[in-house]
Amino acid sequence: MRLDGHDPAAIARAAQALAEGELVALPTETVYGLGARADDDAAVAKVFALKGRPADHPLIVHVAQAADARAFAADWPPVAQRLAQAFWPGPLTVIVPRAPGMAAAAAGGQDTVGLRCPAHPVAHALLLAARERGVAGVAAPSANRFGRISPTRADHVLDEFDPGLLVLDGGPCQVGIESSIVDCSRGRPVLLRPGVITRAQLEAAAGERLLDRDAAAPRASGTLDAHYAPRAKLRLMAAPMLRAALEMLDGTPLKLAVYCRTVPAKVAGKALYRAMPERPEQAAQELFSVLRELDAQGVSLIWVEAPPATPEWDGVRDRLTRAAAS
Ligand code: TXA
Ligand code: MG
Repeated sequence: MRLDGHDPAAIARAAQALAEGELVALPTETVYGLGARADDDAAVAKVFALKGRPADHPLIVHVAQAADARAFAADWPPVAQRLAQAFWPGPLTVIVPRAPGMAAAAAGGQDTVGLRCPAHPVAHALLLAARERGVAGVAAPSANRFGRISPTRADHVLDEFDPGLLVLDGGPCQVGIESSIVDCSRGRPVLLRPGVITRAQLEAAAGERLLDRDAAAPRASGTLDAHYAPRAKLRLMAAPMLRAALEMLDGTPLKLAVYCRTVPAKVAGKALYRAMPERPEQAAQELFSVLRELDAQGVSLIWVEAPPATPEWDGVRDRLTRAAAS
């Protein structure tokens, strides 16, 4: 059921539902989340069940203010502090040692916890109103079924789940891909998932280099090789390869969509064409929404021009590479 996220009565109703252990889908600046109070293992279990997500894949706990994050942490490493100070509220998640007994089910049995203070005004209002009702943090994965494309509009969430689910509509998400995740629990910070904040920006704030995710990383669904999958088969190709492939098509009606930055001359009549924005922030913002639209048009193939191999494109390239691995 859609509620207007800008209506204070809707915020109060959603906060009350959270306090009572119900689920609420909420907008954040990155993607929509499927929220449950983090300290209620039964409420958190409903999130795992609804998503179809394995119970050992930890959820991120969202807080209204940076200071609220500390209650969930056994230790607040200086690097977590520097990153939070630089990017909160915003599209960054830090992983820190978990305070014993806090958000155990949400953390999927890990002795660490992922924490994020989102910047979206509706998320902020909801988290504040929930806190007034005794909810210290809201565990929320992206509001999609396991392995599928993250939602960036309320409609996407409503398409994904039962109409009875409370969905706070806060409009289209501005960032469009999920938060950058930095694991600050292992001495040296590790970049587990790239987002729109570049590695260089993270390192400047951290004051040190970030290690790459290694084999020892705990299971993280956003870090599985195949994820964010549209129904259509997605393939990433460099622009010349994409042009050559289009030239080979002889007009046989293929259900093909092409998403690329340089308009291929040969696309007309052969494929559905969507232009990929020149700027990585815009590409990130529309990415999941475009994949959902192409799926809705019933194409069976999506050919995507590989984004430039520059750091600003890391987040978008990561999501596309994983969508192509499915
Ligand atoms: O932007 C976002 O982060 C969105 C919005 C709703 O905040 N949330 C999101 O949640 O993307 P989810 O569950 O789809 O992805 C969270 C990722 C998963 O890959 C999860 O395994 C990882 O964060 N994660 C959470 N807690 C962790 C922990 N303690 N250790 C390692 N990875 C963790
Ligand atoms: Mg997700």
